[in-house]
Amino acid sequence: MSNATYRNHQHYIDEGWSNEPKETFKSLLNILKKRIGEDCSSVLDVGCAAGELLGFLSTEFKECELVGVDVTQSLLDVGSRLLPEAQFTRASALELPASLFEKFDLVTSIGCMSIFNELEINAYWDNLYRVTKPGGLIVVLSPLNEFGVDAMIRHRKRPDGSPGSWETGWNIFSRETIEELVADLGARLELQRFQIPFDIPRREDPIRTWTMQTQYRDLQLTNGLKIMIDHYFMIVHKPQK
Ligand SMILES: C[S@@+](CC[C@H](N)C(=O)[O-])C[C@H]1O[C@@H](n2cnc3c(N)ncnc32)[C@H](O)[C@@H]1O
Repeated sequence: MSNATYRNHQHYIDEGWSNEPKETFKSLLNILKKRIGEDCSSVLDVGCAAGELLGFLSTEFKECELVGVDVTQSLLDVGSRLLPEAQFTRASALELPASLFEKFDLVTSIGCMSIFNELEINAYWDNLYRVTKPGGLIVVLSPLNEFGVDAMIRHRKRPDGSPGSWETGWNIFSRETIEELVADLGARLELQRFQIPFDIPRREDPIRTWTMQTQYRDLQLTNGLKIMIDHYFMIVHKPQK
């Protein structure tokens, strides 16, 4: 089986930050207000793309140190231009630099977990845990499966009618797998389902999500992989030492 890599990032560069904060960011902020109030002196966003979440959080948490990591330098360059007060570092979520260990009150990773497969998922969570201060908070947003099934999904598009390269980005782990993994780290996983509050139309890129009506839900997220996408916030408090 050929390797699959994440490639669907160009729209973060072409479209820049949205005028209105994303619904996922607003829901995240509600979670943060209940958990940490205004009390956040350092945040790391893993898979930060062009720094849009850090920009949003900077308006809420004043005087907060803002750090973003991503593997794609062109995204970090846009982030540095749009949010010069933040620090952007090129690094993989699977191998975060030791200089970041136990440095952050808050670690976020939105829409990134589903890039990683069954051989990578432990390293992803290990790394998020390592960079969080004891007593700090981790919040991850990703689709989860509620039927006890881990689905590792590769896809390829056919731009201009011929097959492109195999891509990743839509692996869907079961809730149980992530619960066990977080328990092995010495913490407890809390889940909060994210519900998109409005209709999203289909766009040209079949990988971008849109909403459809089903028997169970008026606003079910799906995409051109023909999967049902149910995003959850995964909330983990790292215990004090
Ligand atoms: C779906 S995008 C989410 C971007 C952003 N968090 C948001 O919510 O708008 C996934 C991001 O993960 C980044 N990424 C892919 N592989 C990564 C890795 N191994 N480590 C860190 N970031 C990665 C991509 O470059 C991309 O910016």
